[in-house]
Amino acid sequence: MKKILITAVLLTCFLGFSQQKSIDQKVNALLKQMTLEEKIGQLNQYTGDNQATGPITINPNKEAEIKAGLIGSMLNVLGTKYTRQYQELAMQSRLKIPLLFGQDVIHGYKTTFPLPLAEAASWDLEAMELSARIAATEASASGIHWTFAPMVDISRDPRWGRVMEGAGEDTYLGSKIAYARVKGFQGNHLGDINSVMACVKHFAAYGAAVGGRDYNSVDMSDRMLWETYLPPFKSALDAGAATFMNSFNDLNGIPATGNKYLQRDILKGKWNFQGFVVSDWGSIGEMINHGYAKDGKEAALSAITAGSDMDMESNAYRNNLAQLVKEKKVSMALIDDAVKRILRKKFELGLFDDPYKYCNPEREQAALNNPEHRKAARDIAAKSIVLLKNDKGVLPLSKETKTIAFIGPLVKEHKQNMGFWSVELPEVNYDKEIVSQWEGLQNKVENSTKLLYAKGCEIEGDNKDGFAEAIAVANQADVVILSIGERRDMSGEAKSRSSLRLPGVQEDLIKAIQATGKPIVVLINAGRPLIFNWTADNVPAIVYTWWLGTEAGNAIADVLFGDYNPSGKLPMSFPREEGQIPVYYNHFITGRPAPNETATNYVSAYTDLKNSPKFPFGYGLSYTTFTYSDLKLSKNKIKSNETIEVSVTITNSGKVAGEEVVQLYLRDKVGSVVRPIIELKDFQKIKLNAGEAKTIKFSINKEKLSFYNAALEWVAEPGDFDLMIGSSSSDIRLKTAFELEN
Ligand code: NOJ
Repeated sequence: MKKILITAVLLTCFLGFSQQKSIDQKVNALLKQMTLEEKIGQLNQYTGDNQATGPITINPNKEAEIKAGLIGSMLNVLGTKYTRQYQELAMQSRLKIPLLFGQDVIHGYKTTFPLPLAEAASWDLEAMELSARIAATEASASGIHWTFAPMVDISRDPRWGRVMEGAGEDTYLGSKIAYARVKGFQGNHLGDINSVMACVKHFAAYGAAVGGRDYNSVDMSDRMLWETYLPPFKSALDAGAATFMNSFNDLNGIPATGNKYLQRDILKGKWNFQGFVVSDWGSIGEMINHGYAKDGKEAALSAITAGSDMDMESNAYRNNLAQLVKEKKVSMALIDDAVKRILRKKFELGLFDDPYKYCNPEREQAALNNPEHRKAARDIAAKSIVLLKNDKGVLPLSKETKTIAFIGPLVKEHKQNMGFWSVELPEVNYDKEIVSQWEGLQNKVENSTKLLYAKGCEIEGDNKDGFAEAIAVANQADVVILSIGERRDMSGEAKSRSSLRLPGVQEDLIKAIQATGKPIVVLINAGRPLIFNWTADNVPAIVYTWWLGTEAGNAIADVLFGDYNPSGKLPMSFPREEGQIPVYYNHFITGRPAPNETATNYVSAYTDLKNSPKFPFGYGLSYTTFTYSDLKLSKNKIKSNETIEVSVTITNSGKVAGEEVVQLYLRDKVGSVVRPIIELKDFQKIKLNAGEAKTIKFSINKEKLSFYNAALEWVAEPGDFDLMIGSSSSDIRLKTAFELEN
């Protein structure tokens, strides 16, 4: 058996190697036939004229350039009809090099999945991989070869609107999710008909924009970069990510797009990345705005030298590279390297064998109308929901409740549930496609249940005219559900906010309804952690629903009525006030820690606020309870080549089945550089029936104990470690210690 396995592995390696070799030969042969202009053409990416709404040849220049082989890739062209039309133009070019179609398929294609940040709250890696797999299946059937996802930027700042697109604040969780998403998008093999290339972005440190203002500068120590911000990128690369995108920000004064240290030294050097790097939209040209390049020519020189292979929409390569080569400022070898990286991917995708491989309308129809995709969307949507508060057992609601009032500006919305980065296909009627929260409730309750509705107010503005009707409706109900939050375009690219309060008069509406004395449940729809202190302190039940996509209404109803027992845990800390941002769980302890957060003089605390967040990283409730017991270590002293087996028993001590995310944290007590007070190092999501107990195991090895020392070496230093197992970063249930020996 072992022999067969070894032979199979060797055979796969050999086949992979020989396939790569033959692709390299084909790439080299093609390269020899290419003129300089054609080579530069491959480095050039344009946007479609009009997304999927056609006609596609509004711009005669673009048409002519494609026919002349001067464009390598397009973005924002959707659907087999239009991708085929573009590809037909490319097939009229001298060398018939197929176009590559890229698209922001961030959380689903036709089936919209929860926002990436919401999915991260599920801590369910398999479900996230599946959601990316389905997105890839739909997008590839619709002519797309390449998604600009996953975004793996760590962010500790909810003012930054793009937190909705990432996996939150933690490096360990973020790295696991990055891996799962790349696997999901790319499937088993790039040439498979339902695989798309992943594009890991934004390289690098984009999530640390000063003040949470999008596109802003980043100033960061190398150690922070390596320890906190780079690991999810490395993890995505280990999963086989085909491409990377660089970022808009400068890092310590050098724009990422022109940053040789990031792209050449780290990515293509130390990490040996063989795929290609695309710039972010216009980011090569934007180096002029940064004051880093005098003109497009200098910008192109800087970007290509630093390792940016493809120019998205700034025309800097198209307009300047040939001249730079003639002036011998850019070597042909540099151009060839970038072109080869791109051509290799086109070969791997099988586009040279059949440029219309992804242009089959029947396949497209089948993939875009697959009920299994909706089922998966409902499942992960329910898993992404976080139950923040449930006092007095308000939830789950009974399906036999006589009268339910559903109030708020988001109750009857359809498209709002799709969130910011969803794809909108012109032929789809989203009012029919998306299950609104109102429809979800209707689908769930018995016919005998009376449902009442009032809008109450708009999301923004100060008009309270609708309050009276909302109060009247609430007064007739046995229970009130309020659906409030952000508009879906309030969290996303260029959506930084300095105030994270519930917009408009929504919190006043909650207060007015609470005054009726009825039991109320608040649903908060948002793309980022918001601040809602009055609600958190006064309302008995709060459910954070983020934006959940196509099946939002059904998934929310599943949770409200207990058909799905909520299991989501926050992937980001929720601040009490904007003034404490950045607030994150794995901070340093400082020389003057504040015990019990009391702001006595001369400790590291605010005089007017606790240090801790309102809701911590890893937090989320369930309709059942879990007890933790019997934490055991196989040893409490290890050498660096040894492993500790950790076991812990979790018991569902409540009355219904449920899932728990068991979180393992470590603290390195003394280091040659200061170590975080607590760091997530492993987790398991387990399902237990009422009364059931399970013993789960983790293992601790040198890798888990290592960090970057002052000289940026990855080391595990001998000494004492605390090991903590908990239900959130601030709900540690069991604690022990061990030693790493010299
Ligand atoms: C700019 C965004 O920063 C990037 O994430 C996205 O992929 C591109 N635009 C393309 O739409």
